[in-house]
Amino acid sequence: MIKKHPFEPFRIKSIEHITITTRQEREEACNRAGNNLFNLTSDEVMIDLLTDSGTGAMSSEQWAALMRGDESYAGARSFRRLKKNVEEIFGFDYFLPTHQGRAAEGILAAITLKDNNIVPSNTHFDTTAANILSRNAVPVNLVIEEGGDPNSNHPFKGNVDLQKLRHLLEEEGDNVPFCMVTVTNNAGGGQPVSIENIEGIRKICDEFDKPLFIDSCRFAENSWLVKLREEKYSSWSVKDIAKYMFSLADGATFSAKKDAIVNIGGLLLFNDKKLFKMAKNELIMREGFPTYGGLAGRDLDAMAVGLQEGCDESYLKYRTEQVAWLYEGLVANGVPVVGPPGGHAVYIDAGAMLPHIPASEFPAQALSLEAYIEGGIRGVEVGSVMLAHTRPDTGEIIYPPLELVRFAIPRRTYTESHLKHVVNTMAKVAQNSTKINGVKIVEAPEFLRHFTATFAQV
Ligand SMILES: Cc1ncc(COP(=O)(O)O)c(C=O)c1O
Repeated sequence: MIKKHPFEPFRIKSIEHITITTRQEREEACNRAGNNLFNLTSDEVMIDLLTDSGTGAMSSEQWAALMRGDESYAGARSFRRLKKNVEEIFGFDYFLPTHQGRAAEGILAAITLKDNNIVPSNTHFDTTAANILSRNAVPVNLVIEEGGDPNSNHPFKGNVDLQKLRHLLEEEGDNVPFCMVTVTNNAGGGQPVSIENIEGIRKICDEFDKPLFIDSCRFAENSWLVKLREEKYSSWSVKDIAKYMFSLADGATFSAKKDAIVNIGGLLLFNDKKLFKMAKNELIMREGFPTYGGLAGRDLDAMAVGLQEGCDESYLKYRTEQVAWLYEGLVANGVPVVGPPGGHAVYIDAGAMLPHIPASEFPAQALSLEAYIEGGIRGVEVGSVMLAHTRPDTGEIIYPPLELVRFAIPRRTYTESHLKHVVNTMAKVAQNSTKINGVKIVEAPEFLRHFTATFAQV
């Protein structure tokens, strides 16, 4: 029996129209889009689960805050209101606003990395990895083994393998300017990281005298899952868990498009004054003056309110239960999904659902197309289209271990009936899965091909 859908701790004040499409219209749209869901227009999509980033619904308080925005170039009241909430929640000594998370990552990379440096993390998100690579440095992923096993029910599959981290620092320590950890671990299935693990990372960083930065996009969802799954913190508030987690680090990057529930915005945070000063100079060059950093004053105000709302426990309970509800609904209908449910998305195991399609015929891409054609649902392929690469020395194609389709859930946006539609659609897709064919690439660029490649049925 699937649990009741969680009670939404809000009511709807403003709505956005969804165009209901027919199967024939969706087939035509797919053909026009070269069988790549990134090429669809948003009104060709009925339920858009492409990303949870910047796609959430702002509250009436956030819209009201927008009107309070102070657009002064320097020293705006909006900045001071943001500062108060950032200091309360993150607790670092210094911070800079940025236009989104990758801008914060770009500045951090610019001021810290040299050729051939190594930056370990559980799993770097693709923009973090790209920012590191763009400085001729190397991102290294050290997530625990369970993190790559779709059948493991480990409660913290985002944890860093501490032995591997120690080993890396023993071998290559001189080349490691800082360590990172991503909470929750988006590129590794949206899985949380335990406080015990972050304490372990801190201890190792202290031993080797390395700063620790947290990629904190989903810090509130991670803190809520810590409260639920890590006994010691069950009576702590989410804000206290988050503050303690940040106290274990030397700085953080943050995309406010996730847990601050805004459509645009980011932060870069530090304790080190010297790094902060260097970052400030970079920020002025790339983003703007330090009291607005690439955002309008009104965006700072919306972020200030959103940070508080993102930590609200009735919201976080609903949010994570909604993800779990979708997960359980899919499991109950025979759709293979990666467990346990994380904070912001469910990941469908296309490899398990379509064993007749080899990785060379992109089973996750084929499944994402079928979900769209059957029910107008747009997810994202996280399989061989996105992650396979060719070894330059041998020419061999290296396929990723899992072929997944991610359904990311925008915050406060879809209701029970929308998610029921997702479950029913995927149940039908699963029943007819043997009829789904693989796809082949018609055209693709050399890098980041998943965004623009076109495909045809095999
Ligand atoms: C874990 C993680 N880090 C960094 C980013 C980059 O943030 P932004 O999209 O705001 O640049 C994302 C975005 O999805 C993310 O999920």
